[in-house]
Amino acid sequence: PDADTFFPRNLPVGLTFDDISLATRYTEILPRDANLSVSLSPSLHLQIPILSSDMDTVTESRMAIRMALNGGLGLIHYNMTDEAQIKEVARVKNHIHGFIREPIKVMANQTIGEVLDRITRKDFGFRTFPVVDEQNRLLGLLSSSTVKERYRERSVLEAMTPRSEVYTLPVSAIKDHPIEVADKFFSEHIGIHKLLIVDDQERLCGLFTLSDIERIEDEATRIVKPARDERFRLVCGAAIGSHRKADGSLDADRIINHVGRLVEEGVDAIAVSTAHGFSKGVGDTVKLIRGQFQDLTIVAGNVTSADGVEFLAKAGANCIKIGQGPGSICTTRVVAGVGIPQMTALYVASRQAAKEGVTILADGGITKSGDMVKALTLADGLICGGLLAGCDEAPGRIMEINGKLYKQYRGMGSREAMKDGSAARYGHDKKDAVAKAAPEGIEALKEAAGPLDVVLRELIGGIQSGMGYLGAADLKTLKVNARYIRVSPAGQKEAAPHDVITVKTTPNNSSE
Ligand code: XMP
Repeated sequence: PDADTFFPRNLPVGLTFDDISLATRYTEILPRDANLSVSLSPSLHLQIPILSSDMDTVTESRMAIRMALNGGLGLIHYNMTDEAQIKEVARVKNHIHGFIREPIKVMANQTIGEVLDRITRKDFGFRTFPVVDEQNRLLGLLSSSTVKERYRERSVLEAMTPRSEVYTLPVSAIKDHPIEVADKFFSEHIGIHKLLIVDDQERLCGLFTLSDIERIEDEATRIVKPARDERFRLVCGAAIGSHRKADGSLDADRIINHVGRLVEEGVDAIAVSTAHGFSKGVGDTVKLIRGQFQDLTIVAGNVTSADGVEFLAKAGANCIKIGQGPGSICTTRVVAGVGIPQMTALYVASRQAAKEGVTILADGGITKSGDMVKALTLADGLICGGLLAGCDEAPGRIMEINGKLYKQYRGMGSREAMKDGSAARYGHDKKDAVAKAAPEGIEALKEAAGPLDVVLRELIGGIQSGMGYLGAADLKTLKVNARYIRVSPAGQKEAAPHDVITVKTTPNNSSE
């Protein structure tokens, strides 16, 4: 073969965020009016195009809840047992419902001890349960004050508040405006926290809780609305690997069983997350899931080529993660010598994604809101790790060094993360496998950044500024209006604060 085929004379150029800048365009829109909503699949709609990365120092339920409340999506990592991940997803999906259609119920002949055991197994996060008979007819309400260890031996029947003292409304009363009806009820019944809904045969149809209604009202005053599913629950994603059996073949039973249970909990997207998505294992995993769950949103990755996008789209993915080695804690390019600078990878991927009718996510390397604007000229959404790892809601350990607070942030390919993942995911110590693998990530620290709400507000403001400069009222128009200019090294220096002594910086400026 011709040597030029493998090492062409005119090698393609790889550019990343700082290598380019966006030209301004005529505008009629104010940044604060720019609409950031996006649909990543026919069923997954977000109010902001930001996802928190499926990393064990970034996204567990606490982060996912806050991300969804801010209009985005958290991808729960999988460096934990399948059981633990299902619980994390359940925490997000049970966080706020408005009207809870399928409340967790108990039977009158159970003991408080049995109820307590169920709570421990499922970790519901609430302790008040409707009591029903075999026909699902309401018998009473078991309140949290009786669900205590010291009442373990008592029966639910003895402990419950009887039906005559439980507040209910007929299902017909909430047909049109359920939240408003519930809000009116709670305003008129001070001190009552639960409202149960029954049909004309006294069968339980659902319930409202006061705290949910209060939270919904609080949200109504926010600029960006929460991201919810069609049943008014917060959205949540979960990452999975392409799990294999000891003989190296795909563990189809485990994958289908686990995804099935996540779907039962109401998961909105499954992300098949690996370092190399253009691979048989990931393709087979996506095909397997798509075969069983036709309507589920499947995210898959990571890839950086048109062929990779085509491969995952044809396998059945709706949304493809783009990025190999750009991440702040990644060493893939150093260790393996592979990867494509992020803007070029996004450009190539976006052309193919348009042909395939899929969406793409810019995953890794985003350090400031300007990078977000640039990425969104090509991608439909952004995955952030390092930018969010310092937030209060991230699970990483917090530590104090010389009077400053930091949070632990580590690559999922770092030796420590792989060790934890292997042990937890496979239920035993995989020391040997870990010792042989070359780490492709590092362990790091991020300065503590405070609440996610504040960090996201700055970033959202930055994206809206960019959209204002480009005359883009929405993200679709941002793509159409983008004109790029290549920036010289002197231009890069000029772009960041220079020739001054910085006194105070902001979270959306990482130029230091
Ligand atoms: P940022 O730049 O947001 O990047 O911190 C987060 C993304 O980096 C990827 N990731 C890794 N890549 N080695 C890698 O090469 C790793 O150990 C590693 N851990 C995470 C991942 O795509 C994440 O969303």
